[in-house]
Amino acid sequence: MATLATTVNGISLPNPFVIGSGPPGTNANVIGKALDEGWGAVIIKTISLDSAKVVNVAPRYARLRTEKSKEIIGWQNIELISDRPFNVWIDELKQLKDKYPDGKVIASIMEEYNKDAWTEIVERVQATGVAGFELNFSCPHGLPERKMGAAMGQDCNIMGEVCQWVMSAAKVPVWAKLTPNVTSIAEGAAAALKAGCNGVSAINTILCVMGVDLETLRPEPTVEGYTVPGGYSCIAVKPIALRMVKDCAEVIRDKYPNRTLSAIGGVETGNDAAEFILLGADTVQVCTGVMKMGYGCVRKMKDELLGFMERHKFETINQFKGHSLQYFTTHADLVRRQSEAKAAAAAKVKGLVGKDGEWKGDEFVKQTESLARD
Ligand SMILES: Cc1cc2nc3c(=O)[nH]c(=O)nc-3n(C[C@H](O)[C@H](O)[C@H](O)COP(=O)(O)O)c2cc1C
Repeated sequence: MATLATTVNGISLPNPFVIGSGPPGTNANVIGKALDEGWGAVIIKTISLDSAKVVNVAPRYARLRTEKSKEIIGWQNIELISDRPFNVWIDELKQLKDKYPDGKVIASIMEEYNKDAWTEIVERVQATGVAGFELNFSCPHGLPERKMGAAMGQDCNIMGEVCQWVMSAAKVPVWAKLTPNVTSIAEGAAAALKAGCNGVSAINTILCVMGVDLETLRPEPTVEGYTVPGGYSCIAVKPIALRMVKDCAEVIRDKYPNRTLSAIGGVETGNDAAEFILLGADTVQVCTGVMKMGYGCVRKMKDELLGFMERHKFETINQFKGHSLQYFTTHADLVRRQSEAKAAAAAKVKGLVGKDGEWKGDEFVKQTESLARD
């Protein structure tokens, strides 16, 4: 019988569905709710040592809906990392460990470009018993103004150096969360893996401007009449995320076969998850989907993923992980394959016999003629 249970960097998970860092993992209460509902793991909202520097604004979300059904397909946020004090987080992570000894809580962390700060945050957070770390090198708004988040992820040398600092202090698995706001996410993945990270997560949000109000002429979301470009997520980003996950998966397949990949971006169904796993993901994260549908959506996602596996007779996640990567090639190869296929089809139309099984009694003479030269 098919199972969703999987082991990633030695962490055993009941299923590959992981809460992505953001509002669904902002405190012990909601993290507990996620574990109760059956999520495989929870990545907490990104934390840093000094929350006093984190000041959010409202509104901080803007949504894109389809014209007809009004379904939300795109979501911009200009939210910062957690504004809750570090000590409060340490207490809550300990409480969670006591209440859910088998629950998998992964700490998303971010710091300035300072070795002592990164070492301190890793040591103090891992003492609470978290299952792993996700390094936020990818928040695209607000934090880059302080040279954090995507500002680090966009510089492979800096990101590699910070990953090395973290790896020399960490005793649990570490994933680097990559920014899509670069020319080549594969280079980011390679830099983090070369520095020793156990895995990478992709993607964080894509830098965007949701729209401009044609009455006020102000871009949205407007805060006191002004705005900043924000991070785009939800269903609309899934095709971009699939491509970037595929790029990261190829780096892992070709150079770092024992490392792992956590896919994120527009996942709302078990079938979405299956697509990401087919492109090489070990786990699949959901953030905006939980904000739209609530924590219980994981039950349907699990059923859908199991249904997919049973249809294809896959018993484990590993049996289909990365299966579809083999079907990517170059455009030149597509052209070659197509001209070969056309030639084969033309030969068939002409009635040329290719294999002995193709001889037919009532066309035998015609088929012989078509093969003969006088
Ligand atoms: C409101 C909001 C807040 C977010 N905050 C964080 C964060 O603190 N740290 C982080 O690494 N990613 C953060 N993200 C990014 C998500 O974890 C995820 O990478 C992205 O939204 C794409 O996935 P999705 O389409 O499932 O939301 C946030 C996303 C949203 C929508």
